[in-house]
Amino acid sequence: MQKQDIDQILAELGELKCKTQKEIEEARVKFLGKKGTITALFEEFRTVAPELKREFGRPLNELKQKAQEVIESLKNSVVDEAAASAPKTDLSMPGDDYPLGSRHPVSIVRQEIVEIFRKFGYDVAEGPEVEDDYHVFEALNFPPNHPARDMQDTFFVSAGHPNPLLLRTHTSSVQVRAMEKMQVPIRVICPGRVFRNEAISARAHCIFHQVEGLYIDENVTFADLKQSILLFAREMFGPETEIRMRPSYFPFTEPSAEVDVSCNICHGKGCNICKGTGWLEILGCGMVDPNVLEASGIDSKKYSGFAFGMGLERIAMLKWRVNDLRHYFENDLRFLKEFETSSEV
Ligand code: DAH
Repeated sequence: MQKQDIDQILAELGELKCKTQKEIEEARVKFLGKKGTITALFEEFRTVAPELKREFGRPLNELKQKAQEVIESLKNSVVDEAAASAPKTDLSMPGDDYPLGSRHPVSIVRQEIVEIFRKFGYDVAEGPEVEDDYHVFEALNFPPNHPARDMQDTFFVSAGHPNPLLLRTHTSSVQVRAMEKMQVPIRVICPGRVFRNEAISARAHCIFHQVEGLYIDENVTFADLKQSILLFAREMFGPETEIRMRPSYFPFTEPSAEVDVSCNICHGKGCNICKGTGWLEILGCGMVDPNVLEASGIDSKKYSGFAFGMGLERIAMLKWRVNDLRHYFENDLRFLKEFETSSEV
C-alpha cells in the first residue's frame, strides 16, 4: 500500500461529476461497492505490517468518510436540480374542493335520540351483533316455542347447539348484558344494528337499526315510563307532541304497550302519513318482567324497571317522510346528499 493510492482516489473524488442518480450510484459502486477501489484498499490494509498500520489507518478512514460525503451531497444536489427543472406551481391558483360527505339519516336520528337520553342521565351501552340464543331470547323470557326462535325470522350462525349463535333480532339483548354487568340503578340506552330474515321491500328489510332503553331502580313505575316517553317525544318531535299508549304484548315486559305520537304533519286532523288516524306508532315498551330481572340476578322484589325499543329507520321515515326503507341501505348519493344540511360535523 502506498500513500499515492489514497491521494489518487482523493483526487478522483474531487473531480467527480454526476448528472443523474444512476451516475451517482455507479460512482458509489466504483469507490465503495464490494469491489470498489476504497474497499480494495481496506482489504490491502489488513496485510500491512503492524508498524505501518498507524501511517495508513487514519488517512484510509478519512478517505472513506470523504467518499461518503461526496456521494451524499451529489445525491442531494441532483434532487435539487430535478426539482428546479420541474414545472413551477402557481400557488395563487384557486384550490380544488374536496366534496364533503354527509351524515347518514340513520346516524343523524341515532345521535339525536342518544343526546336526548343522555340529558335524562342515560349511558350508552353496546353489545355484540352476533349473539347467542340466551341473550336474545331465553333471558328475555321468550318461551321455547316462540315463533321468533324459528329459522323463518332469525339468521342462525350455528344451529343445533343448545345455545346457538345467531344475528341479534333486536337490541333488547343489550339490556340483558347491561343487567349482567352493571349495578342497579341502571339507566342505559343501546343503539345498534339488528337482523331479521325478511324479504326486502319498501316496508321491511333484513338489516335495520334499533335503540333500546332500560331503566331499573327501586320504585320505578309505569308513570315514570309514560313521563320519560312523553319527554322524549316532545324533545324529538316538538313541544306540542302528545303520546298515547295502547296495550300490547312482549315476552320481556309486563304490562307492555305500544306508543303512538300525535301526527306532527296534520296535528291530529288525519293525513295520508298517519293514514287518517292522527297518530303515528313509534315504539314498544313496558315494565321489565320480573322473570327477566331474576334471570340476570336482579331481585325483582326490591327493584323494578321499564324498557323501550324503537326502530331508527321508522323514526327517520317520520322525520323526513321517506316512505321506502330500501333508500336507507342503497347509498345512492342523490338520496344521501339530501341530508347534507341536516348533518352536524
Ligand atoms: N325488542 C322489541 C322489538 O324488536 C322492541 C321492544 C319492545 C323493546 C318493547 C323493548 C320493549 O324494550 O319494552 O320489536
